[in-house]
Amino acid sequence: MKDSAEIGIIGGSGLYTLVDGLKEIRVETPYGAPSDAVFVGEAGGRSVAFLPRHGRDHKVPPHRINYRANLWALRSLGVGQVLGPCAVGGLRAEYGPGTLLVPDQLVDRTSAREQTYYDGRPLADGTVPDVVHVSMADPYCPQGRRAVLAAADGAGWDAVDGGTLVVIEGPRFSTRAESRWFSGNGWSVVGMTGHPEAVLARELALCYTSVNLVTDLDAGVEQGEGVTHAEVLAAFSRNVDRLRTVLFDAVAALPAARDCVCSHALDGVSGV
Ligand code: ADE
Repeated sequence: MKDSAEIGIIGGSGLYTLVDGLKEIRVETPYGAPSDAVFVGEAGGRSVAFLPRHGRDHKVPPHRINYRANLWALRSLGVGQVLGPCAVGGLRAEYGPGTLLVPDQLVDRTSAREQTYYDGRPLADGTVPDVVHVSMADPYCPQGRRAVLAAADGAGWDAVDGGTLVVIEGPRFSTRAESRWFSGNGWSVVGMTGHPEAVLARELALCYTSVNLVTDLDAGVEQGEGVTHAEVLAAFSRNVDRLRTVLFDAVAALPAARDCVCSHALDGVSGV
């Protein structure tokens, strides 16, 4: 088993624990330690690196995740394409638990996260790159989105194609007023981990596809008590088997050669 992989999946442990023969690799990065070891193996006929976003024991809360180390670690293993499954709350009544949504837009409502590699400090090899401003107009990989939507279709899961993921700082859930404001803006789902994952992937010229599993209706949509962590976990485990199927089928369908906006994100930038 090689210490490298083409594709990365950053997600919960339920997504890879059934895969045989994974090799556990500890990766150190200039940004510190990732959430956990990276588990490398085969899925969908491709080499895949799994990284449990919250650590294998689910001890790292969303606002404490070392997102820079996570993306850096994957790239250091050769990963070019990343799938980022995550649990989200629905911001429209029709996006109830069990909805799969593949967003095409992102809104950052976080407040205290390291969200760039280009902060004027030297890179790992001592060089200081030019100021870099990557384009985030379309934050997700078009090829990755197509692969996930086709895989969902193949699995009989009627996924929502497009929508806006708003990412909050957490770890608390939103107030009813915040949630109503999000829906009123036309945003589709709310989560805690989608940012800065997509931004950092783009800064490394990696393809990144966000895959949103709705586990609850957010507080502004639901009439009841509001979201609970227990309800999120229960809905996730009810859907994790079919989510795994979709992700592995998508992995198999991802193009071997990359030629998308993500792969060209650093074209023309010197010093990187
Ligand atoms: N993750 C799952 N459900 C969520 C919600 N309602 N708000 C933020 N993050 C979530």
